[in-house]
Amino acid sequence: MPLLKHAFCPGYPPPFDSLVADYPGEDVYPQKDFRTEWGPIFHRGRLDGSAVVLVLGQDPATHESVSRRILVGEAGQRVQGLLAKLGVAHSYTMVNTFLYSVYGQGGGSRHEHDEHIADYRNRWLDALLDGTRVTTVITLGMLAASAYQSWLGSRPQLAAGLQHTALRHPTYPESASASGQKTLAAATEILLSDWNAHLPELRSHVQPDFPPTATVYGNSWQEGDLARIPQADLPPGSPDWWFELAAWASRTGKDTQLKRATIQVVVPTRARTWPVLTPTGGS
Ligand code: URA
Repeated sequence: MPLLKHAFCPGYPPPFDSLVADYPGEDVYPQKDFRTEWGPIFHRGRLDGSAVVLVLGQDPATHESVSRRILVGEAGQRVQGLLAKLGVAHSYTMVNTFLYSVYGQGGGSRHEHDEHIADYRNRWLDALLDGTRVTTVITLGMLAASAYQSWLGSRPQLAAGLQHTALRHPTYPESASASGQKTLAAATEILLSDWNAHLPELRSHVQPDFPPTATVYGNSWQEGDLARIPQADLPPGSPDWWFELAAWASRTGKDTQLKRATIQVVVPTRARTWPVLTPTGGS
């Protein structure tokens, strides 16, 4: 990749241009279970054939709905940190199981086996995995693992050549603790121990961009476990603070209707570098 003053995601070369021009709508993704009003969000990372790792996530969330690339918020920064532990800085592509953000409890599981959702997803998986340099597929969570297995079942000749590593989803700690069965700390420890257990197999299958260190996770998130989203992954002109580790987007609203309709985007404190105006200053 040439060195650019401001790197950016160059968009969708063939065959991905046809895929993004022909995405399924509400007839396939019902609005009661998916936030179709925020549009489909397709991918993050390389589409030029240079990826050696494919990450299959679950569904886009708040930051993704604004930046139009997947795995950009905290979940994405956790995954980016995992890739860094493997020595992978840029040779990856990420897609999600679902094109649209899941709405409500169990919305995703209800559509685990939907034929039309799978048909479109499988066109992406074919383009990303059949005859490419990808050696390793990392799935995040059970729905992603199931989506990948169902694709693989229809491509048995590819099964032997691809390493599948099924990891717990990066936001497992938050979802497991929200149900009240575990504390956030206990669930974080479970996630990190799962990721640690898979690091050796991942390191043995992934061709790194730079020599990986042998670092592992501790019992809780440590400095360096999360990594910034690379500039080359987001659309041209994305503001610097979209790459910050601080959160900058959240759903707000006094009732469910307004909350579904609203994403509040706030420039993180550290990025507020503009001069402070006096009360009579401009708007
Ligand atoms: N954001 C995504 O795009 N995918 C996930 O699985 C989680 C957050």
